[in-house]
Amino acid sequence: MPTTTLPTATTLDTARLLLGVLLPTIAKGPIVRRPWAVRLTARLDLDTRAVDIVRRVHARYPEGPLMLKLPVRKQAMVLAPGDVDTVLAQSPEPFSPASSEKRAALSHFQPANVLVSRGPVRTVRRALQEQVLDTAHPVHRLADRFVPVVEEEMQHLMCAAARSGTLPWGEFLDAWYRVVRRVVFGDHARDDKDLTAMMIRLRKGGNWAFLRPVRKDTRRRFLQRVNEELANAEPGSLAAVLAAAPKGDGAEPAEQLPQWLFAFDPAGMATFRALTVLATHPQAMAAARREVDGDTSGRRVLPYLRACVLEALRLWPTTPMILRQTTRPVEWPAGVMPADCGVLVYAPYFHRDDRHLRGAHDFSPERWLTDEEDGWPLVPFSDGPVVCPGKQLVLLLTSATLASLVGGHDLRVAEGQALDPERPLPGTMDNYSVTLAVAPRAERAAAAS
Ligand code: HEM
Repeated sequence: MPTTTLPTATTLDTARLLLGVLLPTIAKGPIVRRPWAVRLTARLDLDTRAVDIVRRVHARYPEGPLMLKLPVRKQAMVLAPGDVDTVLAQSPEPFSPASSEKRAALSHFQPANVLVSRGPVRTVRRALQEQVLDTAHPVHRLADRFVPVVEEEMQHLMCAAARSGTLPWGEFLDAWYRVVRRVVFGDHARDDKDLTAMMIRLRKGGNWAFLRPVRKDTRRRFLQRVNEELANAEPGSLAAVLAAAPKGDGAEPAEQLPQWLFAFDPAGMATFRALTVLATHPQAMAAARREVDGDTSGRRVLPYLRACVLEALRLWPTTPMILRQTTRPVEWPAGVMPADCGVLVYAPYFHRDDRHLRGAHDFSPERWLTDEEDGWPLVPFSDGPVVCPGKQLVLLLTSATLASLVGGHDLRVAEGQALDPERPLPGTMDNYSVTLAVAPRAERAAAAS
């Protein structure tokens, strides 16, 4: 094994990365977003600056992953596309997703979740997740139940929006949470806002990782609630599939479920962002409507709308930092990465690389429908053996949601960030400040009159 160590950033370059890249990303809230921080980041364009900083640093250290000069921690950053593939393909060994900071953050609400598990129990928990979420199938086995839930809730939302003429983010989010509770627990949980609130309280603690003690009482009540739900699972819900699934030793089903509630948040955010882009990009909206109007799959298979969600996640990844920790020393052509070394893949650096990516700052869902960019790390759901097991379910529900929203209504941005199809899209999208104006779809209204 070579004895050379990997290139190490100077103290100044380490400080640039910490202050210009990590700090704004963490300030926005790694577990639950802080709207004020997202607003500030958008105003100061900090995400665009972060990508520029990484680009300049990478130019100075072109070889191999880069070690940061930190006093208390071994930390590397992966800057070459091929090295991203290596890290993601060789997960969870030797690149474990159960990194120290992730374990600290998730200890607030799911300390035995697959994402922070290692060894044989990880294999058991991952298998359970894949089985319940139908990871390998674009259309989940419960689609016949889930898609009508989406349609019902979105119809309800749009009736109210058409009456008031507006659709603010907050109202979309309330409807989205109703969908999530019905999908995860069943219809009886539709209006159980307490459950969502309890989860958000725990996740807020997660934002502070080891800096804040776990709210033990809330966690105990939350876990009790999840266990009750699993014991009396409503048929047609994910909870029922989980309750009925065969489980290996150490599966801890009640610890696997909170990740779903947690992770449906970014799915809602990506949907509303995609909707905002569609409302401002007439060509993309026309393509979306062609797909919706011609759909014969009952909104199960909507490739263009799925690609719209993927494209919103490329432009504004909801997991911008993919984190790993080495379980042993790892040899690279440029030197050795030590054991217990944190590894960071900063996705926006690759997602917005206009040197390699056609239209890196444009909304081009088509890129997800061809093989053109195969091999380039576009990794909103990560990749390799630890890839998000909920990806297909997310794309099913979010594309069906978009179909319900754009099919019958015209939308435009009434308040908040204006997105111009003629200009590069911004580095940050502040969905919290957006209110859409809603009117019945003009072509339909004209045809009916
Ligand atoms: C837009 C929505 C979502 C995005 C962008 C997303 C993305 C991700 C990413 C990047 C990871 C980390 C993988 C890694 O460290 O390499 C992950 C893990 C995971 N996601 Fe998602 N996710 C989303 C929604 C969901 C939903 C709704 C579910 C469940 C219903 C889910 C279930 C999981 C699970 C169980 C893991 C842990 C996988 C493991 O450790 O093996 N995700 N997701």
